[in-house]
Amino acid sequence: RMPILEQCYNLMDFEAVARRVMKKSAWAYYSSGADDEITMRENHSAYHKIWFRPRILEDVEKVDLSTTMLGTKVDIPFYVTATALGKLGNPEGEVILTRGAKKHNVIQMIPTLASCSFDEIVDAKEDDQVQWLQLYVNKDRAITKRIIEHAEKRGCKGLFITVDAPQLGRREKDMRSKYSDVGSNVQETSGDNVDRSQGAARAISSFIDPSLSWKDIPWFLSVTNMPIILKGVQRVEDVIRAIEIGVQGVVLSNHGGRQLDFARSGIEILAEVMPVLRERNWQDRIEIYVDGGIRRATDIIKALCLGATGVGIGRPFLFAMSAYGLPGVDRAMQLLKDEMEMNMRLIGCSSVDQLNPTLVDCRGLSMH
Ligand code: FNR
Repeated sequence: RMPILEQCYNLMDFEAVARRVMKKSAWAYYSSGADDEITMRENHSAYHKIWFRPRILEDVEKVDLSTTMLGTKVDIPFYVTATALGKLGNPEGEVILTRGAKKHNVIQMIPTLASCSFDEIVDAKEDDQVQWLQLYVNKDRAITKRIIEHAEKRGCKGLFITVDAPQLGRREKDMRSKYSDVGSNVQETSGDNVDRSQGAARAISSFIDPSLSWKDIPWFLSVTNMPIILKGVQRVEDVIRAIEIGVQGVVLSNHGGRQLDFARSGIEILAEVMPVLRERNWQDRIEIYVDGGIRRATDIIKALCLGATGVGIGRPFLFAMSAYGLPGVDRAMQLLKDEMEMNMRLIGCSSVDQLNPTLVDCRGLSMH
């Protein structure tokens, strides 16, 4: 028998239920990583190399989890990251994530390749709710410019340009399932010459411009007032370059292990990046986000201790949505809030701004 929602006690529980209830091809698309899935596994297990050094005898009666991301105050330092094809998991698609994000006052990043149209997802939000846009850059820059201008007009507060996908990675589970129904919004974004023979990912990605380069970034900065964030940065040299070119943020990410296998986990990269930025006193010149494998509030706390402004979470909300719809997403977010409040108390911190590197022991990470 399928567990009822109240029997899901952590984010991994939703995945187990989703696996049983989802269509095989949909499960393959959501759950797969690139090649041997070593990076996908490492994303979560990297957090197991970091231990806490809690403080004692701090007043933790009241704990405030709120923080600010790109100028928006949120209730807890995570956002719902962009994941394509929401209707594979639930017929209503991404608008379920919009409603869940509203309930918990967190930000939703809208994917270029959402199953719902961009306008449907914006229409589903409340007036005071903040969304960001994830952008795959089209070879035809006129299309890209239209997408950016429209997003800004509709109130998006951040433009996340995905930079780790000049070509889509090989996700073999997904390729084997030969996904056929990519959905109408995706068809509009990617054109009609969609190759359906090799899984959902390949079917929808042929429009992405592999010639995108640093030379193009000033153009993006010139066409929008939204903050620009590079999503998928993997080494400190590129963070420095991002600061020099003037973007407002980076996401240290390997695309949930779906692109380059043997890319390092976001948290490992963060441990490389922050000491270099602090040495130059550049830590306040850019906002640093991390995603990939975040499943526990302790993972969020570790990333913030090391200097992240916030973290992105992908698959767990897709699985919660696929298994239980909006109540599932609601419960997944509430579980994270409860876990985080408890663990903040246990490490002796009553607010997010108290989190700092002395609270973690990172000697198990390879950079140390
Ligand atoms: C993604 N991700 C992603 N990223 C992006 O920039 N554009 C996209 O269209 C997608 N699509 C997508 C689909 C699915 C099914 C997954 C699982 C992921 C990557 C995503 O934004 C994020 O980097 C990872 O999902 C974070 O890892 P976790 O939380 O899923 O482990």
